[in-house]
Amino acid sequence: MGLIAVQSPINTRSLQNPQLNISGGRRLSGELQVSGAKNSALVLMAACLLTRDTIKLKNVPPLTDIAAMSEMLISLGGQVRSVGDALELTGDSINTSTAPYELVNSLRASFFCIGPLLARTGMAKVPLPGGCQIGTRPVVEHVKGLKAMGAQVTIEHGIVTAVVPGRGHRLTGGRIHMDCPSVGATETLMMAAALADGETVIDNAALEPEVIDLAGLLIAMGARVRGAGTPTITIEGVDQLHGAEYAVIPDRIEAGTFLLAAAITRSHLRVTPVISEHLGAVLTKLEEAGCTLNHDGIGLTIKADQINAVDLRTQPFPGFPTDLQAPFMSLLATARGTSMVTENIFENRLQHVGELQRMGAAIRMQGNTAFVEGVTSLSGAPVQGSDLRAAAAMVLAGLSADGITSVRGLEYLDRGYANFEGKLNAAGASIERVSSAA
Ligand code: EPZ
Repeated sequence: MGLIAVQSPINTRSLQNPQLNISGGRRLSGELQVSGAKNSALVLMAACLLTRDTIKLKNVPPLTDIAAMSEMLISLGGQVRSVGDALELTGDSINTSTAPYELVNSLRASFFCIGPLLARTGMAKVPLPGGCQIGTRPVVEHVKGLKAMGAQVTIEHGIVTAVVPGRGHRLTGGRIHMDCPSVGATETLMMAAALADGETVIDNAALEPEVIDLAGLLIAMGARVRGAGTPTITIEGVDQLHGAEYAVIPDRIEAGTFLLAAAITRSHLRVTPVISEHLGAVLTKLEEAGCTLNHDGIGLTIKADQINAVDLRTQPFPGFPTDLQAPFMSLLATARGTSMVTENIFENRLQHVGELQRMGAAIRMQGNTAFVEGVTSLSGAPVQGSDLRAAAAMVLAGLSADGITSVRGLEYLDRGYANFEGKLNAAGASIERVSSAA
């Protein structure tokens, strides 16, 4: 039985061609509430396929990506029940190992299912997630790792077919050295290894907090995982995993976006909850830019008056996160001095430069580096978000700009930010979600 799929948030269902109209120049105050982490919740949901029992995930953000992942799990025979801000997921009746093309195509993260499906059933047919606006998004490391665990993997007609040959169709532990610290590959291989026969060692693993969060859930389910958060993760496979109850970590990228909303409006406000260790590089850059930050053990108070130029280079964690490069660039477009922003992670994640230039930003491009010369003020204009973080960056720019900024691309924004304008309006912003002329 499928179950109640998680409903998409209300604000994405009712308007045709929605856009946000932002009246800029207002100071913000009070508090901005951070939801659960999208990039953790999605992979934790996939982990429910590893057990016949029920997993209860708390602090799940109400996002369209979460609704899409729920649909994916239900299409595989899983059950998903929405209980307040929690999801109850049960994988006892997985009735297929084939993930539908249209669901994987709409949500890259659903490719995560290949690891648990293979570990659970010995077989998985999952469409290649394909590229997106920010890059080609390969899955080379994911496939390489599954092969190292004994899977036979072929890619034909855009479908990745993985099979575990032999009796019992059980993966065997192996040693995997990743060429790059891919977050998704690390998480996929951790889930596959959890039920493998023997020990798996993943070298050059991603260090992101979401990887540590996945390890926390797997351990709560009875898995034997050591070293999450270090470059070498060791997983001792077990015969089966059991249900668990687990709370998703706060979304560090949403928290960083809210801190930047405060900085770009030169405001004094509190963002909560924030785990400082998840945002070290970002907090350092905010202080370098002139912000005052104080953590009270749960939330972070930020005060911004004069903002100075800083240089950013995106790196894997604990370096500066690529997901906050665009929002931070909006801030730097209004800073005193010239900043250098280099995007090292994705090959096409500077499309927001053109949109910021439309608002009067003075930016010069040189390869994957943007030289951002701060201007006294941006001017409101109609702009487009090309991916979810670029859309958020345009909203931040609109908060600061003179006049009205209309931001399209909400189908991206709503993937990663729950009630974005509602939270900002509660802190003093003036943002309206309307239908734009077709
Ligand atoms: C995760 O994507 C996040 N998504 C992304 O967040 C985030 O930007 C990214 O990690 C980097 O931190 C989720 O967790 C759902 P990667 P993922 O594999 O796992 C290259 C957002 O805005 N690479 O670590 O797909 C790849 O091309 C999204 O919330 C290979 O070369 O990222 C990219 O340049 C966007 N070969 C870099 O590594 C591979 O086999 C990082 O990719 C795999 C990846």
